[in-house]
Amino acid sequence: MNKNKIENAKKLLRSGELVIFPTETVYGLGGNANDKKAVKKIYNIKKRPINNPIICHFANIRDIKRDFDLNKLEEFLAKKLWPGPITLILKKKNKSKISSLVSNNSSYVGCRIPKNKIALKLLKGLHFPLAAPSANFSERTSVTKFEDLDKKLIEKVFTIKGKQSELGLESTVIKVKKNNIELLRFGSITPNDILKVAKKSNIKYIENSKISPGNLKKHYSTKKKIRINVKNIKNDEGLINFGKNKLKSKIINLNLSSSGNLKEASKNLFHFLHKLDQGKCKKIAIAPIPNTGLGLTINDRIKRASKK
Ligand code: TXA
Ligand code: MG
Repeated sequence: MNKNKIENAKKLLRSGELVIFPTETVYGLGGNANDKKAVKKIYNIKKRPINNPIICHFANIRDIKRDFDLNKLEEFLAKKLWPGPITLILKKKNKSKISSLVSNNSSYVGCRIPKNKIALKLLKGLHFPLAAPSANFSERTSVTKFEDLDKKLIEKVFTIKGKQSELGLESTVIKVKKNNIELLRFGSITPNDILKVAKKSNIKYIENSKISPGNLKKHYSTKKKIRINVKNIKNDEGLINFGKNKLKSKIINLNLSSSGNLKEASKNLFHFLHKLDQGKCKKIAIAPIPNTGLGLTINDRIKRASKK
């Protein structure tokens, strides 16, 4: 059944249409990255500001090398971490056909090779990269489960259904500068995971990077108000808890990981936000999450989601 769906999706993509597909991080809303019109459709349908660049997805490193020159460290990281949830900002070759619209006219483009099987099958044999932001309206919560996709999006866009995303947080976005690594967005691969691979490098978080405005503002927002790091729960709040404690909502209680496992919590986070946004509570309260490892990414996301 999925095989037919993937073939149909390829046909649509080749004719300039968009497709929603699962990845190991979050669902993507993809179109032909070489086709300016298709890329424009992505910005329009998501209501995304044109200055927020879009990641291009590839099937393998050979395809990436057609469009990009990689320096030593980039090539090393690529071989160690792809396929997987890391996005490298790479310099496009002059002859590259990738539309300048994906990167706000900059020659630096975000690239990644996903490891989800459906995503890889979709990319294979397409002969162009897929420009694909997360499949949600701009500023809204990313989606890890088919049922959480916004009905207004799946009404308009052909969608391939997958299992719940294995990781649940978006890719980590990095840019290599000589032997140093700039971290532009926390993600599913932690700074320590990167340093384990690139032992001789330094990694520096660039807060509010201008080239990555997706990270600047309020983001990942639910419709309902969110309070984070709560010590008590108000009567109208649903609770997203973590680990074992005495917090309790009178309306609804979800636990990201009762054993305090950050990987499990990462997988559950966006689905729980969608669930409470649809549920009976008026507001959402989130328990404190340890600020280490994947907790850095979880805290980054819920902090932005809680911004008014
Ligand atoms: O896991 C993911 O990365 C998912 C799946 C679908 O691959 N995609 C995703 O895309 O999260 P999006 O558009 O929601 O977020 C892309 C992030 C934004 O923060 C954007 O600013 C940054 O990557 N980005 C993309 N291209 C860039 C570029 N050329 N330079 C700097 N930042 C870039
Ligand atoms: Mg997004």
